[in-house]
Amino acid sequence: MSDTKKLFVKTYGCQMNVYDSERMVDALGADGFETVETPDEADMILLNTCHIREKAAEKVYSELGRYRKLKEAKPDLKIGVAGCVAQAEGEEIMRRQPLVDLVVGPQAYHRLPDMVQRTDNGAKVIDTDFPEEDKFDHLPRGPKARRAPSAFLTVQEGCDKFCAFCVVPYTRGAEVSRPPERLLAEARDLVERGVVEVTLLGQNVNAYEADGWRLAKLIREMARTDGLERIRFTTSHPNDMGDDLIEAFGEVDKLMPYLHLPVQSGSDTVLKAMNRHHTAEEYLRLLERIRAARPDIALSGDFIVGFPGEDEADFRATLDLCAEVRYAQAFSFKYSARPGTPAADRAHVSEEVKSERLARLQEMLTDHQMAFQQSMIGKTLPVLVEKQGRETGQMVGKSPYLHAVHFQADSTMAGKIVQVRVEGSERNSLSGVCV
Ligand code: 5AD
Ligand code: SF4
Repeated sequence: MSDTKKLFVKTYGCQMNVYDSERMVDALGADGFETVETPDEADMILLNTCHIREKAAEKVYSELGRYRKLKEAKPDLKIGVAGCVAQAEGEEIMRRQPLVDLVVGPQAYHRLPDMVQRTDNGAKVIDTDFPEEDKFDHLPRGPKARRAPSAFLTVQEGCDKFCAFCVVPYTRGAEVSRPPERLLAEARDLVERGVVEVTLLGQNVNAYEADGWRLAKLIREMARTDGLERIRFTTSHPNDMGDDLIEAFGEVDKLMPYLHLPVQSGSDTVLKAMNRHHTAEEYLRLLERIRAARPDIALSGDFIVGFPGEDEADFRATLDLCAEVRYAQAFSFKYSARPGTPAADRAHVSEEVKSERLARLQEMLTDHQMAFQQSMIGKTLPVLVEKQGRETGQMVGKSPYLHAVHFQADSTMAGKIVQVRVEGSERNSLSGVCV
């Protein structure tokens, strides 16, 4: 009889959770688990959760509710909740959903195999500590299995900024940067597995600082890795955008011309209430300097509409800022009160007004995204070929500006960078032909 156990992992939220899920799969893989595609096949289900907005957190409970029948049919089935809901709600999860056997916060993943063992006799196990040790040092890496051409690499975690709406400083804790030598080794390891593009991740990645290295130096050194062709990083705070990092955009060829730099609002009153520590004007001047260093850079941002106290004039200031920047891509959300954050107790903007503002903002952001995509038509772009496209004989890859690009090619091209002449623009992608 084989003692391989089957693991189903479902990941919610940001790219850091994607990276964390991979590391958890590695850790449990060393313990005899292999992954399966559906929850009904699993001996263990792990939800890696997101707490950033109310909807994200509620999704977890409705997903857990769906597992009742599975657990009745298979009483040995283990159900675990990881990630930021686990950190924020801890034992409350087990009270609300008694099906759950295990709750593990984002800083305790290296203890997961041990925790799973402790649930074997029916015990409920919870660990939401912030241990001193680097969880990634303790997570075993899998055998040198091939990886997709593009990979995430967490270099920094946590946030010290305490924006008034955000749970991250509470769920992920204080800023911690991983040592550069380990990150360079991890990048080399990824390249050996077929990775061509690495996205450096951190909640506040441009605040990276370890052993006297800042993010710009880490990028410059990592760019010397043979076989690694592209480097990206996300997410950044405007106040940590140092001159060294701006210069790197102009000087490091492997650093892709795309920057996600959230501003959240264009109103100084709202920015102050959000505890952002910068004005709209300072943000715009910063973008000017970045564009001077790298004129073709594609800018991306995040916006919150209906933050407590935001009036029509404040909202118009956000529209004005967007009209001035013309983002290549942007993400916008209705404000969602998060328990324990400073803004949660303030007087809220009505749901109706939030929805109306979101629609107006998204209309403008979509127009700009479409215009940016249209401006690519006729250009020949280097595209990193990633995977099979929607139709047979089609592959999809990534442009330097992070567009998905569809074109005719076969799967042997995966992992190569090819020149594609762009001929069409759809809602969220480009299409073209190899030249
Ligand atoms: N409500 C709505 N959006 C939020 N974000 C973070 N917290 C909240 C919240 N409470 C958005 C911000 C952030 C992105 C990751 O999620 O725009 O940049
Ligand atoms: Fe949250 Fe980002 Fe603000 Fe940190 S900088 S508190 S992660 S929105």
